[in-house]
Amino acid sequence: MQRIVVTGGAGFIGSNFVHHVVRETDLFVTVLDKLTYAGNRESLEALPADRVELVVGDIADAELVDGLAASHDAIVHFAAESHNDNSLQGPRPFLDTNIIGTYTLLEAVRKHGTRFHHISTDEVYGDLEFDDPNRFTESTPYNPSSPYSSTKAGSDLLVRAWVRSFGVQATISNCSNNYGPWQHIEKFIPRQITGLIDGIRPRVYGDGRNVRDWIHAEDHSSAVMTILEKGRIGETYLIGADGEKTNKEVVEMLLQLFGRPADDFDHVTDRAGHDLRYAIDSTKLRNELGWTPRFTDFAAGLEDTVQWYRDHEAWWRPKKAEVEAKYAALGQ
Ligand code: NAD
Ligand code: DAU
Repeated sequence: MQRIVVTGGAGFIGSNFVHHVVRETDLFVTVLDKLTYAGNRESLEALPADRVELVVGDIADAELVDGLAASHDAIVHFAAESHNDNSLQGPRPFLDTNIIGTYTLLEAVRKHGTRFHHISTDEVYGDLEFDDPNRFTESTPYNPSSPYSSTKAGSDLLVRAWVRSFGVQATISNCSNNYGPWQHIEKFIPRQITGLIDGIRPRVYGDGRNVRDWIHAEDHSSAVMTILEKGRIGETYLIGADGEKTNKEVVEMLLQLFGRPADDFDHVTDRAGHDLRYAIDSTKLRNELGWTPRFTDFAAGLEDTVQWYRDHEAWWRPKKAEVEAKYAALGQ
């Protein structure tokens, strides 16, 4: 493998992955990104031009995608509409990108025999009760709750069908909640960090007991590289780092980092259909492919992430007022 396409490489996890690939491999990367509100070319600016090229375009553009599939060895597919709250306000772009976009990529890799890795989410499995002793595994039935997660589930099923019916050379990974640098400030952790920098009290949906299973984006990147290199075609691998925390716990840790009292936050209107808890069992990936997460100290990772947002205010500041106005209109 010499040349890969990374779709959505100007977004949060995609850009972390491109940085990882440039640092850890000799691969040449073509980023295909539409630069929606969630994409930012500045996230790739520091990377050398002889290793990374940005093509601004839509994954649902069949002609563009066909040319890229023909001239590259693999496509790693991160591009998506990714925010649950947005999917509740306007689901249509989620269908266009997550379903039609993935279908368009699959048709191109089918024609050219290009290796394909599909990035998905643990949300396709729905949610768990707080006291459920089981975590999600590769055989948990699909049961998505939101327009976002249902379109991700649909895209996973397309990949599985294209493998079985057409012999497409694809793998799938479903990962838990990522945190780290370059994450859009509409998402929970960077929203609260940038708010705290501005002296705003954190906003917690509902009672704050909802649990997310946090993994550092760098660990997600190393897992995806492992699957790309060693994964068995047609297989699904769950990616997780045993990082379950309630939203209230995360906010209390952030408040401590900012030297503020543990109860200095507001409870706001809950998300419609809010999933209670996600938790990943990544035994298959660890045992079969020998992957292990490295950034398992969540407190240290959170502190580094706070510092990153302090150091990169120019990257997020232009978006802050608009994001907060959107949440304010929803009572959040
Ligand atoms: P993001 O919203 O930060 O980035 C998405 C990127 O895709 C942006 O750069 C955007 O411009 C681009 N994009 C959107 N529509 C496009 C289109 N039609 N054509 C080309 N580019 C387009 O998302 P993220 O949080 O980095 O998530 C990346 C992937 O990882 C998604 O597939 C998501 O479902 C999955 N995932 C995310 C998480 C998480 O915690 N954020 C966890 C598990 C899985
Ligand atoms: O589990 C993987 C998923 O994680 C990915 O598939 C999604 O793309 C990604 O956005 C993320 O989904 P969540 O809905 O879990 O992430 P979000 O950052 O939106 O919210 C995390 C939790 O925090 C969730 O329980 C909702 C809550 N929340 C969110 C915001 C923005 C708050 O309490 N307050 C907030 O202001």
